[in-house]
Amino acid sequence: MTRVFFDNAATTPIHPEVVMVMAKCLSDVYGNPSSTHSYGREAKGQLEESRRSIAKILGAKPSEIFFTSCGTESNNTILRSAVRNAEISEIWTTPIEHPSIFQTSQHICSDIPVRYLELNPNGSVNLGSLEKDLIAVSKKVLVSVMHANNEVGVLNDLKAISELCQKYHALLHSDMVQTMGHLPINYQEIKVDFASASAHKFHGPKGVGFMFIRQPNQIESFITGGSQERGNRSGTENLASIVGMTKALELATANIPQDINHLNHLRTKLISKLKASFPTMSFLTELDQSLCTIVSAVFPPEFDSEMLLFQLDMKGIACSGGSACSSGANKASHVLAHFQLPEGSKVVRFSFSKFNTEKEIDFCIEGIKQIASERGQNC
Ligand SMILES: Cc1ncc(COP(=O)(O)O)c(C=O)c1O
Repeated sequence: MTRVFFDNAATTPIHPEVVMVMAKCLSDVYGNPSSTHSYGREAKGQLEESRRSIAKILGAKPSEIFFTSCGTESNNTILRSAVRNAEISEIWTTPIEHPSIFQTSQHICSDIPVRYLELNPNGSVNLGSLEKDLIAVSKKVLVSVMHANNEVGVLNDLKAISELCQKYHALLHSDMVQTMGHLPINYQEIKVDFASASAHKFHGPKGVGFMFIRQPNQIESFITGGSQERGNRSGTENLASIVGMTKALELATANIPQDINHLNHLRTKLISKLKASFPTMSFLTELDQSLCTIVSAVFPPEFDSEMLLFQLDMKGIACSGGSACSSGANKASHVLAHFQLPEGSKVVRFSFSKFNTEKEIDFCIEGIKQIASERGQNC
């Protein structure tokens, strides 16, 4: 049966070259990077080479990159440690962050206040309002704003936000899990203090990520134990996955402009074909203000909103409603709540990778048309 994978914001297929470097590392380099003998030194050598390579791609120093187990851990570490160690008095974030920021900030709000920033109708941070708030505040704040939203794809102007935060002496964290490997990112230009990334969103393995920390001595490890990662993250490093993540980032960033063109072409085609077949379908994703991998479509009532994802799956089309992390939880998305959709609307997120093709878009459109006509016949 033909199947298409349009759920790349949930995870991406691992690149075959990544599998190869990981397999070699797993079988050949089994020393613990913290051991001082030759096996350990060999592992440490690969670990530090990975750190240097990732830092170079991002215009960072190797000492600013810390390996973790995932994006969720990176986000938790930064939020919780910044409050503990960087003398933050308030967290400012958005109501449409990923749960690893949204829920973590709700836990933290028993200790310090959490403020939700004003958003534009498309879900991006309203810069004028942020500046007004920054001018008025006298406390030290941590602003945590995602680079691109994982459900609707809206992008924040992180460069402008980082300039405002610098100007008014606020610290800035960005959850860059969706944009890492998909957009050019240079920390010399985007002056965030902290950032989070996760390998499985850019064709790397699951269960590994990293944090960028501009002044590493600002925070202490969230997971306590050994002094790995220069004391900023205890626990033996997952070397094969780190080596795989590094290879994945090198491959993902090799041809970003061409990949963006291809992805935008796929998105434009999907949207125009859906609009042509279903004129009442609307889109939460505005093509010019969103990440090139995501299209978020609001399906009209001629579809059975309860059954739609299941019907798509039966046709071999893998996509999601909201985000993968909450899709099993059967609870309304806090992100979609911002968009105040009509009762009973069904939002479907189609998310692409550079390996998707135009033929797969045609296959998807055909499947959706069949679902609509089968429903018409059943009504
Ligand atoms: C924006 C965003 N942040 C954080 C995460 C969590 O990353 P991980 O799956 O590596 O924990 C995700 C994953 O869906 C995400 O989309």
